[in-house]
Amino acid sequence: MLDQLKIVEDEGLKALESVQDEAGLEAWRVAHLGRSSGLMQVFAKFGQLSKEEKPAVGQRANEVKKALESGFEAKFAGLRQAALKRSLEQEQLDVTLPGRRLPLGRLHPDTQTMRELYSIFGEMGFQVFRSREVETDEYNFQLLNFQIGHPARDMQDTYFVEAGERGDNPIVLRTHTSPGQIHAMRWITAMNPENPAPVRIVLPGMCYRYEQVTNRHETQFDQLEGLAVGPGITFSDLKGTLANFARRMFGQNTRTRFRASYFPFTEPSAEFDVECFLCGGAGCAVCKGSGWLEIGGCGMVHPVVLRNGGYDPLRYSGFAFGLGPQRMAMLRHHIDDIRYFWQNDLRFLEQF
Ligand code: FA5
Repeated sequence: MLDQLKIVEDEGLKALESVQDEAGLEAWRVAHLGRSSGLMQVFAKFGQLSKEEKPAVGQRANEVKKALESGFEAKFAGLRQAALKRSLEQEQLDVTLPGRRLPLGRLHPDTQTMRELYSIFGEMGFQVFRSREVETDEYNFQLLNFQIGHPARDMQDTYFVEAGERGDNPIVLRTHTSPGQIHAMRWITAMNPENPAPVRIVLPGMCYRYEQVTNRHETQFDQLEGLAVGPGITFSDLKGTLANFARRMFGQNTRTRFRASYFPFTEPSAEFDVECFLCGGAGCAVCKGSGWLEIGGCGMVHPVVLRNGGYDPLRYSGFAFGLGPQRMAMLRHHIDDIRYFWQNDLRFLEQF
C-alpha cells in the first residue's frame, strides 16, 4: 500500500504541473483529491490493514494528502496571480504620456469687439447704459422725430411684435439703439428737471430689421450708440471723439472723414468713414477702390429729441453716433460674410 501511495503522490504532482487554468485545476482536484481518487481508495482500504501496518500507512497517507492539497493551493494562488498580472498588463497606464488637452471655450468675436469698444470709450469717460430690445413705436420712432408716415421710416424695415389695439403705438423690436437715447435722457432729467446733469454714455445691443439678408446685412445685428449731452457741446467735440476712437481702434495714423447725411434725430447729420486700414487709402477690394470705409452714422442731437428727453435745447446741446461693431470686426479680420457671426459654426468661432 505504501507503493500505491507513492504512485498516487507522483502522478498527482506530475499532473498538477501541466494544469493551465482554473477549470483544469478543478478537474485535477476531483481526479486526485475527490471521492473516487486513488488517495481516497487507499483511505477506504485502511480498515483492512493489520494493526502493525496501520501507523506507517496512516502517516504516509496523510503526508500524501497534505502534499497534494498544498500543491493544489500553490497552483491556485499561482493561477490567480497570473490572471491578475494579465489584467493589469491590459489596463496598464503610461504615466509618462503627455496629457490630453481639453477644448477651451472663448469669447464670441462680437463680444470681443464690444468689450474693446467699451474699453476705448470708457477711457474717454463714456459709461455703458443698457436699454430694452423690445420697444414701442413711440420710442423707436416718434420721440426720435420720425413722425407717423415719415418717409425716413422706410430706412429701417420693422418687426412688429404686437399691433392690434395699440393703434399708432405698436410694440416693435428696436431697429436701432437710438431709442435708448430717450430712455437715458429721461432717466437723468427726472432726477433734476430744472438743472439736469450732463450725459456721456454708450448704448450697446441687438437691433432687428426685416430686411433682405446679404453678406453685409443681417436681420439681427449689434450696434453701439454714443450720446453726449451738456452745455456747449459742438460738432468739433463729435469729430474729435470719433477721430480719437478710430485712432485707438485702428491705429495711431488712421485718418477719418465725415460726409453729410440725413437722420431725423440729428441735425446736422453725417456718415463717419475711416481711411481703409488694409490699403492705407490707396484703394483695394475691401474699400471698393475708394480708400475709405464707412463705420456708422452720427450728428448733433436734434432739438426736438433733446426736448423729448427733458433737456432745454436753448441751454443744452449734444452729439450722438451709431456704430456697427460686426462691420468693424469684418473689416478688421477680413470676414467676407456677416452671416458667419450667428451660425455657431466652431470652425469660424475658433479662429478668434
Ligand atoms: C442708424 O441705425 C442710426 N440710428 C445711427 C445713428 C445714431 C445716427 C445716432 C446718428 C446718431 P444706420 O441704419 O446707418 O443708422 O445703422 C448704423 C450702423 O449699423 C451701420 O453703419 C451698420 O454698421 C449697422 N447696420 C445697419 N443695418 C445693419 C444690418 N442689417 N446688418 C448689420 N449691420 C447693420
